[in-house]
Amino acid sequence: MGLNSFTRDNSIFENETVLRDEYTPDDLLERDDELAAYQNALRPVINGAPPKNIFLYGQTGVGKTISTDLVLSQLQSDAEQYDDLGVETIYLNCKDLSTSYQVAANLVNVFRADDPDQSTISTTGYPQSMVYDMLWEHLEDLDGTHALIVLDEVDSIGTDDGILYQLPRASTAGHVTDTYVGVIGICNNFTFRDNLSARVKDTLCEEELHFKPYDANQLGTILRHRAEKAFFDDVLESDVIPAAAAYGAQESGSARQALKLLYKAGDLAREGERSTVTGEDVENARELIAKDRIGDEVNSLPTQGKLALTAVYTLERRGETPSKRIQIHEEYERHASAIDADVLSIRSIHDRLSDLRLKGILDGEERNDGRGGGSYYQYQLGDREDIIGEILQEDERLSALF
Ligand SMILES: Nc1ncnc2c1ncn2[C@@H]1O[C@H](COP(=O)(O)OP(=O)(O)OP(=O)(O)O)[C@@H](O)[C@H]1O
Ligand SMILES: [Mg+2]
Repeated sequence: MGLNSFTRDNSIFENETVLRDEYTPDDLLERDDELAAYQNALRPVINGAPPKNIFLYGQTGVGKTISTDLVLSQLQSDAEQYDDLGVETIYLNCKDLSTSYQVAANLVNVFRADDPDQSTISTTGYPQSMVYDMLWEHLEDLDGTHALIVLDEVDSIGTDDGILYQLPRASTAGHVTDTYVGVIGICNNFTFRDNLSARVKDTLCEEELHFKPYDANQLGTILRHRAEKAFFDDVLESDVIPAAAAYGAQESGSARQALKLLYKAGDLAREGERSTVTGEDVENARELIAKDRIGDEVNSLPTQGKLALTAVYTLERRGETPSKRIQIHEEYERHASAIDADVLSIRSIHDRLSDLRLKGILDGEERNDGRGGGSYYQYQLGDREDIIGEILQEDERLSALF
């Protein structure tokens, strides 16, 4: 017993790197129309005209970042043939940035990172106008004629969206005169798009590009292409890719998620020391991935959220779901008292239930009372009952309830 030795396995994966999230494919499949629209929006640049600002949105995993990468590389290399053109791209992922100020300061640092003579600035403490001035100066000093600034995952700045107004009009407002500035804003949050202030919509959304979720056919193409490089010949049984593509389309339409599923299925076959990957591996992989995701969500809930979820779980075990919030609150009250936790009001338990529904942990079915009674939700766990039960029972404080 104890440790096993690591030996190279060579029956399943020929090159598993291509299934990793950090791998960038050289081809974007099934996105011809979107790519054409993207290239069209950037066409003014190659003609030496000011760029249009672009707003690109669509759900997670639908190819927004990778297509931007591919289209801009192509543009840059095609621009090289023209002596009067120089296209610079500046990429910033805004994931951890919550204000326009932070975005501006981080952009300044992207410029400074390339220049050994300049040190990066602190991203707090400067007056906002000073940070913008530094940014304008860097843009002005660029060698190129065009600066295309990509702000990826820009929805994290929320309603503090001033930068999305300032940057696109850097040239027209006279802040930058020697370089044309264009902005490409990318986001996967539809609320953010709807809530952009009117002035931002006017400037940034000159060209709006929308990437739809992939359907099962498209995911099938993407998976097959990747599988050819990733797996040895004849390792995948014929139902593997269709099953992974169908699940992927049904759950999210995300290529990232479908690739993850295929990778995990291969992993299970390797773990079981089998020489083929089967539809059953896909099924099991899906279960494991769902369990991981739900596990992370549930484990990060505060005790009160877990208690609300436990109430739905115990009701479901007794066959009493879908349940109304009053019923759930009664059940919750019993559980909370049993473990000596505070008992929260119906209102606040209701907020927690809505939250769980938005996270995809609970199913909420909207009902109408008719006769002016308004609408309300009924909750249940659906096919996640087993997984959620297991996770809740692992919680020390809650285990007494089961
Ligand atoms: N059309 C495609 N062809 C091949 N691979 C694709 C395609 N679309 C997406 N992928 C794969 O899916 C992964 C995720 O795509 P990408 O990072 O572009 O998603 P995104 O839309 O930017 O998502 P997010 O909103 O989460 O950032 C890519 O790394 C790539 O491997
Ligand atoms: Mg992305």
